[in-house]
Amino acid sequence: MIIGAVKEKKKFENRVSISPDDVKNYVKAGHQVFIEKGAGSLSGFNDKSYKESGATLSTSKEVFKNSDIILKINCPTPDESKLIKNNSMVISQISIQNNQDSIKILNSKKISAFALELVPRITRAQDMDILSSQANLAGYHAVIDAAQEFNRVLPLFMTAAGKVTPANVLVIGAGVAGLQAIATAKRLGAIVFATDVRIASKEQVESLGGKFVMVEDDESKNAETKGGYAKEMSAEYQKKQEALLAETLKTMDIVICTAQIPGRKAPLILKKEMLENMQNGSVIVDLAVESGGNCEFSQVGKVVSKNGLKIVGHANVPGRVANNASSLFSKNISNFLKLMNFEDKKKSMINKSDEIIKATMICSAGKILIK
Ligand code: NAI
Repeated sequence: MIIGAVKEKKKFENRVSISPDDVKNYVKAGHQVFIEKGAGSLSGFNDKSYKESGATLSTSKEVFKNSDIILKINCPTPDESKLIKNNSMVISQISIQNNQDSIKILNSKKISAFALELVPRITRAQDMDILSSQANLAGYHAVIDAAQEFNRVLPLFMTAAGKVTPANVLVIGAGVAGLQAIATAKRLGAIVFATDVRIASKEQVESLGGKFVMVEDDESKNAETKGGYAKEMSAEYQKKQEALLAETLKTMDIVICTAQIPGRKAPLILKKEMLENMQNGSVIVDLAVESGGNCEFSQVGKVVSKNGLKIVGHANVPGRVANNASSLFSKNISNFLKLMNFEDKKKSMINKSDEIIKATMICSAGKILIK
């Protein structure tokens, strides 16, 4: 098989879909790897490292023309899709609603396309879970970004000149990113609080040394879907949550927002009036900014100053630690590729009855399978 990767075109994208280490593994397994020249430059992987790992460096056109399997971070653009070989495979984040034009082209060329963000959250698929690997890094980096914008230190300092009090950090949403943000803020010496609508997250927050703050009522007993995700909460619940957070925010120095509802706009949690309670110099980092934002003033790709607060809305936060993010993404893909039956030439490479394949294959053999 020929496996190919190109430089990502999307704004704010520094990652690359194959690390030099995984090139080595693919080559060792008998495949050929084509990489566009410069594809890894923003991730700290230079052309020399790819060459030494056994890749063939080439133009993007050549990569698309030759590859049986294209590995990408983001869905191919329509122009890229036109260049991809008929009957080949594409494995990447697809974001179906936003990439209908590309999907139409891929489907018309009988390309099998797999959306990695749809990998089910089952034990067998954990090592293919790009949402977790990337959210983990985002949660870590959100705290680093906050610390950089904050004009104080995070830990307690006892000095000859006096005591410096530790910062109070509130993490909103205790999923993968939130839990990593709690752990990171704790490691930096802050006092950490966290909130979620899923009561199941309480134990996880507390096991990391965080203090759990939450509106507990009848609705919160049922706030989790069967898959473990949060449901959208009622207006009544949101009001109670606002009152609790407005009070909590008065003593917070840093707020890390990570609340998301799969497939929907992120919930707006920090409203204008609540922010008026916050202390001058406080910092809010909104990791949900690209799906609508948890904070009223956050803007994609910007640090906004408002009423003495700084609201950080960096886009593609995993891409801010592109070397680790690319390595983990690449490893997730290589684990996903293990589902493909490369060896047995008599069998089809795609086992359509596998539950991970079924959940991710959005088109194949000219048919749209997931809309
Ligand atoms: P996510 O990115 O969809 O959401 C982040 C967090 O925001 C969640 O904890 C959610 O409950 C919370 N949230 C949503 N609305 C909120 C609101 N209005 N106020 C406060 N918090 C709100 O979630 P993520 O991090 O991708 O995962 C969440 C769930 O998925 C957890 O149950 C986790 O254990 C499970 N999971 C399972 C995996 C596996 O089995 N392989 C891997 C990763 C996560």
